[in-house]
Amino acid sequence: MAKAVVKAVKKTPTKSASKKPTARAKSNIQPHTYNIFEGVEKYFGFTKFKGTQEQAINSLLSGHDTFVIMPTGGGKSLCYQLPAMLMPGCAIIVSPLIALMKNQVDLVRGYSENDNVAHFLNSSLNKTQTNQVKADLLDGKTKLLYVAPETLTKQDNLEFFADLNISFFAVDEAHCISEWGHDFRPEYRRLREMMDEISPTIPVMALTATATPKVQSDIIKNLGLREPNVFLSSFNRDNLYYEIQPKLGKDATIKHIVKFISQNKGKSGIIYTLNRKTTEELAQILVANNIKAVAYHAGLDAKLRSDRQDKFLNEDVQVIVATVAFGMGIDKPDIRFVIHYNIPKSIENYYQETGRAGRDGLEGKCVLYYSHKDVSKLEHLMRDKPLSEREVGAQLINEMLGYAETSVCRRTVLLHYFGEVWDVSHCNGMCDNCKNPKEKIEANAKKEIIQAKKLSGDAECEDMRKTVREMIQ
Ligand SMILES: Nc1ncnc2c1ncn2[C@@H]1O[C@H](COP(=O)(O)OP(=O)(O)OP(=O)(O)O)[C@@H](O)[C@H]1O
Ligand SMILES: [Mg+2]
Ligand SMILES: [Zn+2]
Repeated sequence: MAKAVVKAVKKTPTKSASKKPTARAKSNIQPHTYNIFEGVEKYFGFTKFKGTQEQAINSLLSGHDTFVIMPTGGGKSLCYQLPAMLMPGCAIIVSPLIALMKNQVDLVRGYSENDNVAHFLNSSLNKTQTNQVKADLLDGKTKLLYVAPETLTKQDNLEFFADLNISFFAVDEAHCISEWGHDFRPEYRRLREMMDEISPTIPVMALTATATPKVQSDIIKNLGLREPNVFLSSFNRDNLYYEIQPKLGKDATIKHIVKFISQNKGKSGIIYTLNRKTTEELAQILVANNIKAVAYHAGLDAKLRSDRQDKFLNEDVQVIVATVAFGMGIDKPDIRFVIHYNIPKSIENYYQETGRAGRDGLEGKCVLYYSHKDVSKLEHLMRDKPLSEREVGAQLINEMLGYAETSVCRRTVLLHYFGEVWDVSHCNGMCDNCKNPKEKIEANAKKEIIQAKKLSGDAECEDMRKTVREMIQ
């Protein structure tokens, strides 16, 4: 296994808040001839780099395998987009979701006069569209090609790519390679083998916002990164406000959500649900309440998915009600709220999904509705999985429960999960537990119980009482 060189901060646990991570001297980065300052302005219109971008970009441009661990919205895309624009040839970017590939290609094209500069190849394209992309690649106009891992499992694609001039590989959302991460994708496990078949010596950049120390070493090992420079930043998103609400049955929860959105008129938001049917149901209810909303899930055909994504990103609708199919990586800078209608199946999922909010550094409210019934639903979904997967799944759910039920600063739990030590005094009331310390929560919980007693005949009422009881224990 390759030896990792940690550049940005010391090994975990990292101390955040009290000390902002900064890059150390570049002992393993050789000089290169590319002008990255001119490039970032010319191609992206940015006047400076964020966080560890500059160091990570220099590492890749000097030919090193590079591992970038930055928070959601931290600016990981630029770490491969800029080198792709500067280097000769075309970069291959592995990306796990159709929504994400489309979002990234649209954004890169937005900076360029020429749409051919970026393309994606995945199952949403028909034969004619695929051939068009390949023709553009042969023409040498394309600098970034986003591919699904499945695209690289096809032998004729591998042979086609092997004949192209590839500048480097980037593996975005690299945690998908680890069984210990969320959203494990078996095809990610074969990436090293596939990259070797295309071109074994070119540099590889791996990027993620959600890797525990265990997942980090899994990524380095499974991608076969060769003495990578590792850039590890704090996972903290200080502009996000985290809040948990007890789920008071379906009707009460929906009423609460409608009220919340109405109070946030014109502000973009996402509602995450566990299943496809609920996305449709909720979107319909929002529309009936004069809120412009659409549903998004993997069961929709490619055209509808693409249209609904565009509607949300172009602000023709205010709210998108989505499953995890609209999660990782999506970049709309001004999403002001992310609501979880159901508890997600891991802290990583929660961190990724809430990470869609406030990417411009401004307000981002994250509200999770929590009931025991939803936890049972999650456990039920795993019933047919092999034992080992069920065990991992149960552990991830447990960690998530710990987060939902904690009475300490939410950030303490969230960041501890990723190996960071958090100084609670830096939360600045940006989570419900810091804003309303325990005594206040107890008083509120008692009020909730009285309300629950009034709601007779609601099947979820008992759940809510249980939740409330636990809150005040
Ligand atoms: N140097 C920069 N200056 C100003 N804005 C930047 C810079 N780099 C990136 N951004 C902006 O930051 C936002 C987030 O970037 P990006 O999508 O790359 O985040 P990410 O780290 O990939 O997050 P995620 O883990 O959610 O995928 C984008 O809107 C992007 O335009
Ligand atoms: Mg990203
Ligand atoms: Zn807090």
